[in-house]
Amino acid sequence: MKENPRLIRGMHDLLPEAYHGHQSVIDAALQQAHLAGFQRIDTPIMEESRLFDRGLGASSDIVGKEMYSFTTRGGEEVSLRPEGTASVARAFFSHGLAQSVPLRYFYAGPMFRYERPQKGRLRQFHQFGAELIGASGSLADLEIIALGQEILNTLGVADKTVLHLNTLGSTTDRAAFRDALLAYFSAHKASLSEDSLRRLDTNPMRILDSKAEQDRALLADAPMIDEYLAEASRRRFDQLCTGLQALGIAYVRDHHLVRGLDYYEHTAFEFITDALGAQGTVLGGGCYDRLFEIVGGKPATGVGFAAGIERLSALITAPEMPKADCALIPIGSEAEAFAPVLAQSLRRAGIATVYGFSGKVKARMKQADQSGVAFCVIFGTEELAQDVWKVKDMANGEETLLSTEALQAFLNTKIR
Ligand code: HAM
Repeated sequence: MKENPRLIRGMHDLLPEAYHGHQSVIDAALQQAHLAGFQRIDTPIMEESRLFDRGLGASSDIVGKEMYSFTTRGGEEVSLRPEGTASVARAFFSHGLAQSVPLRYFYAGPMFRYERPQKGRLRQFHQFGAELIGASGSLADLEIIALGQEILNTLGVADKTVLHLNTLGSTTDRAAFRDALLAYFSAHKASLSEDSLRRLDTNPMRILDSKAEQDRALLADAPMIDEYLAEASRRRFDQLCTGLQALGIAYVRDHHLVRGLDYYEHTAFEFITDALGAQGTVLGGGCYDRLFEIVGGKPATGVGFAAGIERLSALITAPEMPKADCALIPIGSEAEAFAPVLAQSLRRAGIATVYGFSGKVKARMKQADQSGVAFCVIFGTEELAQDVWKVKDMANGEETLLSTEALQAFLNTKIR
């Protein structure tokens, strides 16, 4: 027997209600982004694989095991984007934008990661993100974190999230820190989880954010980045903390926050909620100056964040779905033939109008009521001939008889 096509594991459909919540998250974020001078851009969902392989780092889980990569018919090695920052950095070079900095970009769209699906973790998910390119230091970091915070405020979820903040130091700071971590965890090899043993060789910093109980037991005595920060790195982080205090943005210093992508340095942050179960990070980012050298061979500076739209949609109070203003209930074939004409003229007057319910008049009235319309226009051959329309107010059952001309004016006053 032939099997019908099914939804692919980890992918999801956005039916109207979910889509509406999703779009309202993007709208709120974009509104705040515009207020802060960020402009919307879009990059392709597919890029050369080497952009991500190099940009996100070979030791990241994403490059190691989560990419949707394939060879095109023309022999190009391409990948579906697992995130947006590398593409933005690539676009910066593709369009020769070095002379136009600082740039403030906002984007939203689908991302793809072959992760193990679970609540809040999908294989196709959506992010919105903001990137500030060509401005560096604590003021740039502050601007980005403040935008993230303001978006969460606007969405009404700020009180459900906590800002976790860390510094990863400069590349030089981190080299010394990495050596210290390597020495420490190597001395405790026997107690490390399998994942962390692998990370010991590739990126020992990632052991710091391991969720495995046996690794966590080792963290209390592990070396801390603060001991390895150069004076300039320490000052940058202190200035950021002072700036956050001035803006009234509360944070916790999280020494174990390292982020899952290799391009970060200095500031790293995540807004985390405990209202969504294990997948609690709703918005995360940091500074990624290194990425530009890797992607374009030339230095530039960048700081930004991305947020999971599905996770935020699950956290917000669902916005009310937009409803039609008016439903047409034609009775008889002549009236039915006229319904599209009347609908067109009402829609052109800005009145959202639906028709096409099926069944007897009573059943159609019920369907119209369930769809949430405010008014029904009921008409048959007689009403057509006499140019009188019976308009029913669905909230109080009141009926009014109106001419075509008066109908539009009546509905327009009532719905505005
Ligand atoms: P990320 O932490 O990998 O960072 O992803 C950002 C957010 O996307 C996460 O905090 C989470 O809300 C959401 N997310 C990630 N993976 C999934 C998934 N499998 N299912 C559902 N939601 C998910 C980045 O992507 C960086 N590009 C952020 C950035 C921008 N850094 C600097 N600029």
